[in-house]
Amino acid sequence: MTELQLRDAVASDIPALHRLIESAYRGESSRAGWTTEADLLEGQRTDPDELAGILADPDQALLTGWRDGSLVASVLIARRGETLGYFGMLSVDPGLQSAGLGRRMVAAAETALADRFEVRRIRIQVFPQRATLIGWYRRLGYGETGETIPFPYDDPRLGLPLLDDLHFAVMEKVLP
Ligand SMILES: CC(C)(COP(=O)(O)OP(=O)(O)OC[C@H]1O[C@@H](n2cnc3c(N)ncnc32)[C@H](O)[C@@H]1OP(=O)(O)O)[C@@H](O)C(=O)NCCC(=O)NCCS
Repeated sequence: MTELQLRDAVASDIPALHRLIESAYRGESSRAGWTTEADLLEGQRTDPDELAGILADPDQALLTGWRDGSLVASVLIARRGETLGYFGMLSVDPGLQSAGLGRRMVAAAETALADRFEVRRIRIQVFPQRATLIGWYRRLGYGETGETIPFPYDDPRLGLPLLDDLHFAVMEKVLP
């Protein structure tokens, strides 16, 4: 298998990025992977306008992973404070999961957050219903802070909830 090539997304990547993220998070395509939000939300995960806004923001970036010219993985990184960073929208092609690409993208996000924004702590948001995903993040060094963030039920751009009590659990890692 050829090596994964990593680079920042540019505007011309948006259609491929949008397809990848939706395929990993939503609907039947996402069930080919080992973890999905398909049982929690319908509708979209993101849209091209949101992705363009991220690319235009100096405090955010989308890191992309390519193999043989195809986009296979991506992750959003963001500066959230003086030494605080965030990553999210972590996506691996559902047909290529469980082969270490997700772990590679988390490592790339951590390195980029530290190098670009001098981040010392990273926070992520996970639905508590996703126990296997939380277990994976624990193995990557993230711990639950006990904080929760309400799901924005009034913003259909993030998806259409299938449950009426959705919220995020916050997990955090202090970088070595
Ligand atoms: C989360 C995601 C990025 C992981 O990508 P990936 O390429 O599968 O990640 P890796 O191959 O590096 O790691 C897979 C891990 O899942 C574990 N795993 C695989 N199948 C599993 C299963 N059925 N149940 C539980 N764990 C499983 C593997 O053992 C491995 O853990 P390890 O690294 O501790 O050994 C990918 O599943 C994805 O895109 N999901 C949909 C979008 C999403 O939910 N993003 C995160 C939202 S916060």
